[in-house]
Amino acid sequence: MSGPITLGVAAAYDVWAASYDGYDNPMVFAAGHALSQASLSLTQKTCLEFGCGTGRNLAALAARGATARIGFDLSSAMLAEARQRDASLTLFQADMSAPIPLPDQSADFILFSLTLEHVSDLATPLLEARRLLREDGTIKIIEIHPFLSLQGISAHFKTIDGAEITMPTFSHPFQDWLAAFESSGLRVCALKEWQARDLGPAAPAKTLRRGPDWPWVVDWTLSPV
Ligand SMILES: C[S@@+](CC[C@H](N)C(=O)[O-])C[C@H]1O[C@@H](n2cnc3c(N)ncnc32)[C@H](O)[C@@H]1O
Repeated sequence: MSGPITLGVAAAYDVWAASYDGYDNPMVFAAGHALSQASLSLTQKTCLEFGCGTGRNLAALAARGATARIGFDLSSAMLAEARQRDASLTLFQADMSAPIPLPDQSADFILFSLTLEHVSDLATPLLEARRLLREDGTIKIIEIHPFLSLQGISAHFKTIDGAEITMPTFSHPFQDWLAAFESSGLRVCALKEWQARDLGPAAPAKTLRRGPDWPWVVDWTLSPV
């Protein structure tokens, strides 16, 4: 039996794109649940997602009254899925570790969901997010909890042929998050660690496999300093 195959991030998501939304993934469920429970007032607001993937979060934000929903991603196949999901999204291909081709203060609400584990340096995308955020805006970051990532748990999937695909990921302990927020001019308004017990009755059984207390995702709410 052969071992896992490691691909670059864009190449891995290009392969995963077609099956990503149907994949039984407790982390994706936990992040989606966390976003669904956020009290956000987005009527007439512009939302921007870094690493928007198949657009599942941007699609969900339409129900919150957001007028403009913009997303970008490294993977062209993930973006193709997002385009197919919702033609009203504004989508483009970009790398969050480089300058994003949008003007200052473009967005009222900026989301990162399960994407910063692929970035070694948190400060670069967070500084860009701060530049793109309006002064009264909010950033939400929902990412794999450090207790899991530090144990070696990270994004991976199986192809229909059963091959396991892994990709580059980086653990970010709490001190790294706090240092990156400080250097990016961001203030923590709220922090929630979503434990298995918090994920509601629709949560897949897999979310309980480490017991009810294990946190799956960390959920930061930030504003400009
Ligand atoms: C696990 S998926 C999450 C997608 C979506 N945010 C969600 O919650 O379903 C991670 C996404 O981040 C994207 N990504 C990873 N590194 C990136 C980078 N440097 N710039 C832009 N997108 C990136 C991947 O292509 C992939 O679509």
